[in-house]
Amino acid sequence: MKLLRPNIAAMSGYVPGFQPDDIASWIKLNTNENPYPPSPRVVEAILAEVGSDGASLRTYPSASSQKLREVAGELYGFDPSWIIMANGSDEVLNNLIRACAGEGEDIGYAHPSYSYYSTLAEIQGAAVCAYGLTDTFNIEAFPEYYHGKVFFLTTPNSPLGFAFSPEYIEELAQSCGGLLVIDEAYVDFADWNALELVRKYENVVVTRTLSKSYALAGMRLGLAIARPEIIAALDKIRDHYNLDRLAQAACIAALQDQDYFRESCRKIIATREWFSRELLEIGYAVIPSQGNFVFASPPDKNGKRVYDGLYERKILVRFLSDPLLTHGLRISIGTRTEMEATLAALKAIG
Ligand SMILES: Cc1ncc(COP(=O)(O)O)c(C=O)c1O
Repeated sequence: MKLLRPNIAAMSGYVPGFQPDDIASWIKLNTNENPYPPSPRVVEAILAEVGSDGASLRTYPSASSQKLREVAGELYGFDPSWIIMANGSDEVLNNLIRACAGEGEDIGYAHPSYSYYSTLAEIQGAAVCAYGLTDTFNIEAFPEYYHGKVFFLTTPNSPLGFAFSPEYIEELAQSCGGLLVIDEAYVDFADWNALELVRKYENVVVTRTLSKSYALAGMRLGLAIARPEIIAALDKIRDHYNLDRLAQAACIAALQDQDYFRESCRKIIATREWFSRELLEIGYAVIPSQGNFVFASPPDKNGKRVYDGLYERKILVRFLSDPLLTHGLRISIGTRTEMEATLAALKAIG
């Protein structure tokens, strides 16, 4: 259609993980959601914000989400001027591209990882280059000096689950002429994070989400931590009321209930370790995971066959049609009961 920009007309668009309508009748392990509810304080905070008559909803929310920046800043050890809140980390990933890469300029990411970076780059009209992974999970043929405007590093990696070492990430920060965006969507389930590098390097940005470890995928909450100059630029670009009132109330309550958060992560990590061991026992290859999911391959390397078998049993996992990934499945970690049922199904499927 002539009314559209050619790149928009030509692109296919991102396909998010399937969200079935009858969600309660599935064991849903396909989008790395948290199997536990958010902190009870989140529900209290949302109800308090709505009030008995919803009067608060008449007025716009805080445009800057300033209180959230303060709470997050205290939690992560940064001045609030180093933090921006986002309507899901997807929003801030998008705005980082819009801030830094013009039409035809280079964006890079490691493949396989989060393919949405590529979609966002296409929308912007940026040139996108995917760098493969070596057998030891470093980036293949990464240039000595990367001239692109933004490089996205998902660590822990999704869908594979491994995390790049802090030393390796630091080397990448030094080799990037543009921004190194470290997407730490899954880092709360990992043994280390890269926040120190934000302090050390002016080109490093860390993004986080409350969708996974805080069980708030439905509220759409994320954030980025970076130098104040970068945060100020992102503030110019974002929707001025990017977080609604309920999301802001939920975010503060969730971040302030660290005991609940830690316990939820602990249970998921324990279940991940148990499930990984059980998969190995039944002959699956499993990449040791630092996320709330595992990438596992059946002995015949036929991920689709197992996906179909699980689907028939109303267990939803992620099969990725990328030829690099068809040998396995990404399986989110649910409750221990859900994972026991999944294991039993895998044994029955054979
Ligand atoms: C690596 C990675 N980054 C970012 C996101 C987006 O998270 P959010 O829900 O905060 O937009 C996801 C969601 O699955 C993800 O896997």
